[in-house]
Amino acid sequence: MQGISKSFFGVPALVDVDLDARAGEVHAVMGENGAGKSTLMKILAGALQPDAGTIRLDGEVVHFSHPRQAQQHGVSIIYQEFNLLPDRTVAQNIFLGREPRRGPFVDAGAMEAATVALLAELGMERSIASQSLVRDLSVAQQQTVEIAKALSFAAKILIMDEPTAALSPQEADALFAQVRLLQRRGLAVLYISHRLQEVFDLAQRITVLKDGRLVATLDAATTRPDELVRMMVGRDLGHLYPPRAAAAELGAVRLRVRRGGGGRLRDIDLAVRAGEIVGLAGLEGAGRTELARAIFGDAPFTRGVVELDGAPIRIRSPRQAIRAGIGLLTEDRKAEGLILTESVRDNTLLALRSLRGRVGSQDDATRLVLDLARRVDLRAASLEQEVRYLSGGNQQKVVLAKWLATRARVLIFDEPTRGIDVGAKAGIHELMRELARAGAAILMISSDLPEIVGMSDRVVVMRDGAIAGELPAGASEAGVMLLATGQAPGEVAA
Ligand SMILES: Nc1ncnc2c1ncn2[C@@H]1O[C@H](COP(=O)(O)OP(=O)(O)OP(=O)(O)O)[C@@H](O)[C@H]1O
Ligand SMILES: [Mg+2]
Repeated sequence: MQGISKSFFGVPALVDVDLDARAGEVHAVMGENGAGKSTLMKILAGALQPDAGTIRLDGEVVHFSHPRQAQQHGVSIIYQEFNLLPDRTVAQNIFLGREPRRGPFVDAGAMEAATVALLAELGMERSIASQSLVRDLSVAQQQTVEIAKALSFAAKILIMDEPTAALSPQEADALFAQVRLLQRRGLAVLYISHRLQEVFDLAQRITVLKDGRLVATLDAATTRPDELVRMMVGRDLGHLYPPRAAAAELGAVRLRVRRGGGGRLRDIDLAVRAGEIVGLAGLEGAGRTELARAIFGDAPFTRGVVELDGAPIRIRSPRQAIRAGIGLLTEDRKAEGLILTESVRDNTLLALRSLRGRVGSQDDATRLVLDLARRVDLRAASLEQEVRYLSGGNQQKVVLAKWLATRARVLIFDEPTRGIDVGAKAGIHELMRELARAGAAILMISSDLPEIVGMSDRVVVMRDGAIAGELPAGASEAGVMLLATGQAPGEVAA
């Protein structure tokens, strides 16, 4: 790709960017939220047209006016949000619109066989059935289906846009194995990620974008992580996590759950103090999100008691939770956190309005939203911009701003920094600590072990719908994993 430029509504998203990808390499594309990574990849994949610049494939100039055209030339993309049809089978999804035929009919047998062969190339023929409906697959399995689909187009270039953002650590390992396999088959893999560790593990070269411009293309083997971070965010990030709460900063127990149960949850005893950040760790499926939704009244507890500041409280719906001063920043911002076709302003005021009805004059509202946008370091064209046009990480910041507006006493963060760039991540961590210092009780769910260990004043580990044990501040990642996987007995919670 040479000299690629692209503007949206007159605002440049990419300016004169060059990128090349070689057969058999993993080439990472990195940069802050909104730097232009996804836009550049969508142009390569034919989903967007550049305003200027040329694309050459094996030396030939190509113009892709539609993703299907790019696919036919061997360029496939797996988006941040998948594009599979949930009510069709794996095989139907892979061969959608180009089903093998026998006379006028779809040759189901041939389609099945071809699907099994593709899955086998990825070593996944035993874990994914070609007849399964996509809706019944895990996120990781759906991703494998997307990769198999790309292979079916004889992909030469595969673009993966934050493929590990929604995966557990074990699922991510399985994905890395698939990526290395593709690489050995001679594909060029373009790999977008905010996770430094996995980029250094996987990639041979790294291209850094900043504010829509190319900063550099680096050799991964000779680049240090701190150099890379400085290129991305334009400054050094000091210490990684803000200091924890001193014992004197912890207040009384603000949120308490006694013998909470319902659904898969069993005997949940949990206490979070004012001023405290409690990390909630566990493997995918351990019940962390269920617990968050139970406290928030989205799938309420059917047994046990919830207390707020010492008084029992019945929360049967999210609305009641918000009224009581409880906020939930959800993992799935698309489905639960935001109204995509509404503005930054309206989304930011969403929770506050459901709490108070209205929020004062138009000017007051603007001041409030501007202040919140500044605190979360939002990058948007204006407050009136529809959130669907924001980059993934900036959408997450709007969700955060929405809960800040309510001044909730209890905040539950479910994967707060998923898809957030390293610089903004440090900012969000600071903000969480600031909220705690101002008296909020914070429960933080995260699959990012360094984040759990670095941020938490106490770590509670879940397994199989119950609390497996608790670890004090400064617990090791290994200690958390041992509890999460049931290889160590839990200390009895105080
Ligand atoms: N369809 C669109 N309409 C208007 N603006 C857009 C559109 N798509 C992207 N943008 C803008 O272009 C810029 C680059 O966005 P892009 O999605 O490429 O960022 P990114 O580097 O992928 O960020 P992230 O890490 O958050 O995913 C952002 O300012 C974004 O708001
Ligand atoms: Mg993106």
